[in-house]
Amino acid sequence: MTAAFDTLNDILDARYSCRGYRTDPVPRDTIQAIVRTAQKVPSWCNAQPWQLTITTGAETDRFREALYAHASENAPVPDLQWPEGYPGIYGDRRRACGFQLYGAVGIEKGDRAAGAKQMLENFRLFGAPHVAIITTPKVLGPYGGVDCGGFVSAFVMAAQSHGVATIPQAAVASQAPFVRDWFDLPEDRDVLCAISFGYPDPDHPANQFRTDRASPDDVIDWRD
Ligand SMILES: Cc1cc2nc3c(=O)[nH]c(=O)nc-3n(C[C@H](O)[C@H](O)[C@H](O)COP(=O)(O)O)c2cc1C
Repeated sequence: MTAAFDTLNDILDARYSCRGYRTDPVPRDTIQAIVRTAQKVPSWCNAQPWQLTITTGAETDRFREALYAHASENAPVPDLQWPEGYPGIYGDRRRACGFQLYGAVGIEKGDRAAGAKQMLENFRLFGAPHVAIITTPKVLGPYGGVDCGGFVSAFVMAAQSHGVATIPQAAVASQAPFVRDWFDLPEDRDVLCAISFGYPDPDHPANQFRTDRASPDDVIDWRD
């Protein structure tokens, strides 16, 4: 193994989806450095289809309050088709990480009201001082989403290397018409996801668990 591999693993091991933040902002030049690094990912034809709308200061609070109020009353209307289901192992993993979160914040199994309330914390951006809205051109279709997914992964790693915690959020994108109106985003772009980010509150109950990963043997089909 190399020092670079160790460094990469250190960053990946330290990262987790953060659901409790300090309120102090991330300096703009740090955010710019994170984006500059994340932009080094590959994309088909080097199209680099991602565009980001990033909030700072009072605008984050205006957005979170309006989004929370809207999402509390309105059903999701995502631009991207949601998964039709999570069959088999995917459902198992989904439930496992959900129970981990519920356990961390003290929600009893079967307490739907408390689960729904915790879900709504998505729309408070988990208290983060910033949110990045990621959009992709509709015309690029699923491969635009693939490219942007790579960008999202690199963003969260680059942020972690600066001590900045993150959480990608499909929940925010589920209110796509509201988000589009609020930020005046073009109709020809899909709202793919959001990334809320800031400095972590390490003592927040929601930050007290870490998710598992399958082993390479579970995901590789060798052909010799
Ligand atoms: C595209 C994408 C969308 C996600 N959307 C949400 C979300 O809306 N709300 C949430 O709490 N977590 C969301 N997550 C975080 C996942 O739940 C998390 O990445 C997964 O459980 C693995 O945990 P970890 O990130 O802590 O390693 C999302 C992650 C990704 C990559």
